[in-house]
Amino acid sequence: MGHRNRPTTSLISYETANKIATTWNTGKYNTCVEAVSAAMGKEVKTRNAFAYRRAAEEILGIELKSLTGYGDRSIKIAHPERIMVDLPQKAFVVLATSDHHYTTRHHWDAHDIACKIADAIKPDMMLIGGDALNGDTISRYGRTGWEEQEPLADEYGATSHYTEELRAAARKPGKKLLLKWLIGNHDHRIEKYLSSQAPMMEGMPGTTLEELFPRWDFSWSMQIGDMIFKHRWHNGIHAAYNNVLRSGVNMYTGHLHRMHSVPYTDYRGTRWAYEGGTLAEPGTLPFEYLEHNPANWQTGFWVFTFEGDQIAAESIRVEDGRTMFRGKVYKA
Ligand SMILES: [Fe+2]
Repeated sequence: MGHRNRPTTSLISYETANKIATTWNTGKYNTCVEAVSAAMGKEVKTRNAFAYRRAAEEILGIELKSLTGYGDRSIKIAHPERIMVDLPQKAFVVLATSDHHYTTRHHWDAHDIACKIADAIKPDMMLIGGDALNGDTISRYGRTGWEEQEPLADEYGATSHYTEELRAAARKPGKKLLLKWLIGNHDHRIEKYLSSQAPMMEGMPGTTLEELFPRWDFSWSMQIGDMIFKHRWHNGIHAAYNNVLRSGVNMYTGHLHRMHSVPYTDYRGTRWAYEGGTLAEPGTLPFEYLEHNPANWQTGFWVFTFEGDQIAAESIRVEDGRTMFRGKVYKA
């Protein structure tokens, strides 16, 4: 990025810029280096190719669209970075659960209540905020003493079963239901473990989140209107404050298992950060690593309704297996 400050227009002539643009737009080339080398009739080094591309854009006042779909990078990326969701004219409802940490050892009351509310409101989207799959045995933190760890296959079975329950509850025949899953650090463990411990497995069936949970669309973040959803960004007690301050938009995150909302008002108006809570219950088996310290976690989830530029956010806090939502009591 250091080159950004250097005037690039003097790097190449107008004729060369034109040649680059023409070659670029033939659609014959897959990378910046290939296209620029072809245009200049010689092998151009990667960093120079990037600089010439920018120079051509500046000289001609045009944008040379990404050839690979991911900017100048010729590397493969594992998951889409951001999914954009177009808002329809009518109200668009998202039921957002996060940090499920599903296990065969416990059954989460908040999961049952999320299913019941999904069934009652039939949302347009079920959103998993990340960390549905726990990955106890493949954590880089290792085992806590002789604590019994849950086999990955059991956790995967539980996660498949419960995420399918969420989908089935929300589904309404004849109505489109979007299924989105923001990749959490726990979900990511499975690919990370395989790619580092068994790199020769690359490309084999069942080695990606998309193949393990084929109904769901995975991404690192998602944008709906003026709101960004992702598993995590800032940490610490002021995470939500920093998220809303620095993102410049409304923001939803999971990861910290806290459930609250924080506004920020400036000359441009008020925007909000939401922390997604957890479906799991503190003090249960997957969380022995806490050493029985108190955890400032809250069990619950959110329902967001988008209409025009309005966002209605409803927090659903689950305590003792029950909650109140829109004036009605729901029990697990
Ligand atoms: Fe997380």
